[in-house]
Amino acid sequence: MIRSAVCGVGTALPRKIMTNKDFESFIDTSDAWIVQRTGIRQRHIASEDETTASLGEKAARRALEDANLTPDDIDLIILATATPNNTFPATAVEVQYRLGMHHGFAFDIQAVCSGFVYGLTTADLHIRGGLAKRVLVIGSETFSRILDWSDRTTCVLFGDGAGAVVLEAIEGEGTIADRGILASSLRSDGSQKEKLYVDGGPSTTGTVGQLRMQGREVFKHAVGMITDVVEDVLNQTGVAAEELDWFVPHQANKRIIDASAKKLGIAEEKVVVTVDLHGNTSAASVPLALAHAVSQDRIKRGDLVLLEAMGGGFTWGATLLRW
Ligand code: ACO
Repeated sequence: MIRSAVCGVGTALPRKIMTNKDFESFIDTSDAWIVQRTGIRQRHIASEDETTASLGEKAARRALEDANLTPDDIDLIILATATPNNTFPATAVEVQYRLGMHHGFAFDIQAVCSGFVYGLTTADLHIRGGLAKRVLVIGSETFSRILDWSDRTTCVLFGDGAGAVVLEAIEGEGTIADRGILASSLRSDGSQKEKLYVDGGPSTTGTVGQLRMQGREVFKHAVGMITDVVEDVLNQTGVAAEELDWFVPHQANKRIIDASAKKLGIAEEKVVVTVDLHGNTSAASVPLALAHAVSQDRIKRGDLVLLEAMGGGFTWGATLLRW
């Protein structure tokens, strides 16, 4: 059977780094509070010339280079973002143009922080359905542009960046010994919208709006949503949590990551954590963390890797793959 395997990864981070200390001059907060409540120490913030499309392009080029491929080899680009360059067209199409691609097709996926996991799953279905052989899946965000910089309960949490992978069709045996995506689980529930949303949009206010979050409420639901989809992919494949080599969670809060790993029975040394370096980069957080672990030679060929994310909507999802 056809499997979708990762054959390249790449990242792009804005030049400017903002530390927790930098917030102390304009809001009532402290490095100690931010580190203790979230694990975040710094985040990258996009300058005027850095956009979701430019960061996405850079991450995509690096993923192609890592895969030893060129844009000519790609059939489809899926870009996950909640902060597109324009309301339309899709930022994926702009990245396609920036890469010099005049063939294939490209579209955006909007599932906020779960966007990359939704994107991977959608790419996998296109590959297994025969519509594409190689797909660039990108998570790219400039959340700094939708933050209320006077709201200390949200502005300290987020950062900008992009991560990308190239997924390629390979032949598998149909067992969990195969390389590539082995199982995915996606969920959403629109009834909790007011807990995490942006208070603007083209069809309502005619403005871009700003992020609003009831952090404590989101926190309360997070671990349950994460374990729900993780247990689903483990059940689908018969893999036990102890057999996982790596757990690459959405990087929103170190306390949520620790509590989820503990509940799932995943050992601390198998958990990839980059929230200290990047903050919450929404759809970019999982591919940034994945690429970070790959660059450190931690994730190796044949390893079982579990990705998960949850975010606004609510949306949540998990993917189990063999590297
Ligand atoms: N600095 C100092 N004090 C602060 C700050 C700050 N930056 N922010 C809030 N506080 C205060 C609050 O005002 C409150 O004060 P009070 O007790 O006098 O009212 C106190 O700190 C505690 O606030 P809580 O909200 O209870 O703090 P909590 O421990 O819940 O941490 C946090 C807040 C970090 C936001 C946490 O709730 C969280 O991480 N929630 C989940 C966020 C998340 O996972 N989002 C994921 C999806 S993101 C997406 O999809 C876009």
